Amino acid sequence: MVSPADSTSLPTKVLVVGSGGREHALVRALAASPTQPQLIAAPGNPGMQAEGATCHQVAADDIPGLVKLAQSTATEFVVVGPEVPLALGLVDALADVGIPAFGPKADGGELEASKIRTKQILQKYGIPTAPAEVFSEVKPALEYLKVRSAPIVIKADGLAAGKGVIVAANRIEAEEAVRDMLEGNKFGASGSRVLIEDCLVGDETSILVIVSGRDYLILPTSQDHKRIGEGDTGPNTGGMGTYSPAEVVTPGLLQQIEDEIVRPSVEAIADEGIDFRGTLFIGIMLTAQGPSVLEYNTRFGDPETQVVLPRLGCDVLELLWRAAQGDLQDFDLQVKPEHAMCVVIAARGYPASYPKGDVITFPEPMPDKVAIVQAGTARNESGQLVTAGGRVLGVTALGPDLQSAANAAYDVCDRIECPSKIFRRDIGARQLGQS
Ligand code: AMP
Ligand code: GLY
Repeated sequence: MVSPADSTSLPTKVLVVGSGGREHALVRALAASPTQPQLIAAPGNPGMQAEGATCHQVAADDIPGLVKLAQSTATEFVVVGPEVPLALGLVDALADVGIPAFGPKADGGELEASKIRTKQILQKYGIPTAPAEVFSEVKPALEYLKVRSAPIVIKADGLAAGKGVIVAANRIEAEEAVRDMLEGNKFGASGSRVLIEDCLVGDETSILVIVSGRDYLILPTSQDHKRIGEGDTGPNTGGMGTYSPAEVVTPGLLQQIEDEIVRPSVEAIADEGIDFRGTLFIGIMLTAQGPSVLEYNTRFGDPETQVVLPRLGCDVLELLWRAAQGDLQDFDLQVKPEHAMCVVIAARGYPASYPKGDVITFPEPMPDKVAIVQAGTARNESGQLVTAGGRVLGVTALGPDLQSAANAAYDVCDRIECPSKIFRRDIGARQLGQS
């Protein structure tokens, strides 16, 4: 058993769980800590390896394997990237063997793993959210659709890798979505219960909150671009680009979001008996009637993390460690005034099928203020960096204003060589006044 360091002495051996751009951004931020921790990643990726992390081929959903890895490497602190291990109880299992972790236990992970649970909490505590009803049978769900107007939103209750939400434009699409989930088993057990929710209209924003029990710190605002196509067209993806700050969230609006959503959410979660120590990522629609909660996620956003972490001027290791230790009071969250933009480079065909194994070459030297995170990458037999996933890279740039950050990011995107690369040219366009 590892004896955990106290909150004043930071851990020197840290395991990051996950293999995407978000986890690479976490590894980079942790590597920049003055503590200079030894970093381990599971399963990691070549980008994290280049950052100095030792990668172990243990899958992010292999809970016993991860616990064993943490024990055998004498890991002092685990930072969990994705939602699945949280919902599967990784943090509980680590606590059982005395290893502290950043990320909620399974009861907190359920806030992302069950949209119905979250909706019940939102309704119980009067936190603004769209009206919705729960169904497990097709017939009453179809009856309900008759009395609501389209567009309307159908949500699979459980985890569905970001694909379980259908914004149906009309009743026919809505009925199809209901049948697919409840009869067609489209999302397996995740879709055995659905929420049918009124459709909200407005700008979306992601508010990432570091939570430690009843204490919290709101990270810089950001905005994601979920659709694959420019002008927000085509199917939803994991996220094609982000920028921070999202100026649509004015200081007054942020205060309103804190008063009406963030603080009540943190209090509600604690009142439910959940000792949440991790990132509460609140998806918010900025409607004409005010901000309204779309969902809770219980982990950092991807690619929100790629723009939020580079804007922090404080030690991210200390921030995550203190949250995990229940010692967040008085933490001085320093935010740089610079703007950040992340443009995701995907493989042509994503989010449907796409080629793998295309060689990737980065421009050299990399300009100052630009950093690439790797997501779906691997090394081929010759040791070359190749594509291995749908979202392949994230190109993040910092600048004195959003336009400078965009110019720097797109310059690098244009110079990255990779036959199947695609990316959206309009990340941040709305804030830049181009659409
Ligand atoms: P999620 O996959 O849970 O992150 O949600 C997917 C997306 O569905 C959100 O980012 C919104 O764009 C959309 N969405 C979810 N709920 C609603 C709603 N009530 N009204 C309109 N759009 C929604
Ligand atoms: N960027 C959206 C998410 O991480 O869920």
